[in-house]
Amino acid sequence: MKKIAFPKISILQNLSLAPAAIPMRLRSILPALGIALLLTAFSTPASKADDKMENMSLIAVLTPTEGNKVFGTVVFEEVADDKIKVTVNVTGLEPNSKHGFHVHQYGDITKPDGTSAGGHFNPKNHDHALPAKEVRHVGDLGNLETDATGTAQYTITVDNMEMTDNGEAIIGRSVIVHAKADDGGQPTGNAGDRVAMGVIGVKNPGK
Ligand code: CU
Ligand code: ZN
Repeated sequence: MKKIAFPKISILQNLSLAPAAIPMRLRSILPALGIALLLTAFSTPASKADDKMENMSLIAVLTPTEGNKVFGTVVFEEVADDKIKVTVNVTGLEPNSKHGFHVHQYGDITKPDGTSAGGHFNPKNHDHALPAKEVRHVGDLGNLETDATGTAQYTITVDNMEMTDNGEAIIGRSVIVHAKADDGGQPTGNAGDRVAMGVIGVKNPGK
């Protein structure tokens, strides 16, 4: 088989052996070429790891809607095939009460009242329900329950959710915490105003 000498390689050899032999025209592009090669060398392994969808966790950082003081985090991680564990930590809610908690359709939190996030994420066009019912909106994650200080810790493991695969993925959508309990009623559980919101993105594995 005929060997082809790639220009990139011959330039590198010239560089280390006899820089003076490089034609003037080539010398002027060498700094740019060097930077490009450096960038390739340093960025490729990192971006490969970051782009890998397997073993990736997602996070939404909750910020309060207008007039509220609810903060928190929601982490989504794949704990088994098709099983997603959702871990919620929230502060600043009414004490000793239940608060509807959903994935909403859009990752658009531009409106101060959270309504730009749209309705419950419902790619299969099911009716609303609490997680005890298998057939429900993908976004239906039940209720957070606060202690006497208005703090809630909540975990739920679901099997009807896609984190990053196909058109039904939750990445890029949002999570919403509501002022009142989700009672499972139609169409969206009567959970009232939106008190906190956050966009679902890729979690930094080092944090
Ligand atoms: Cu909601
Ligand atoms: Zn729903």
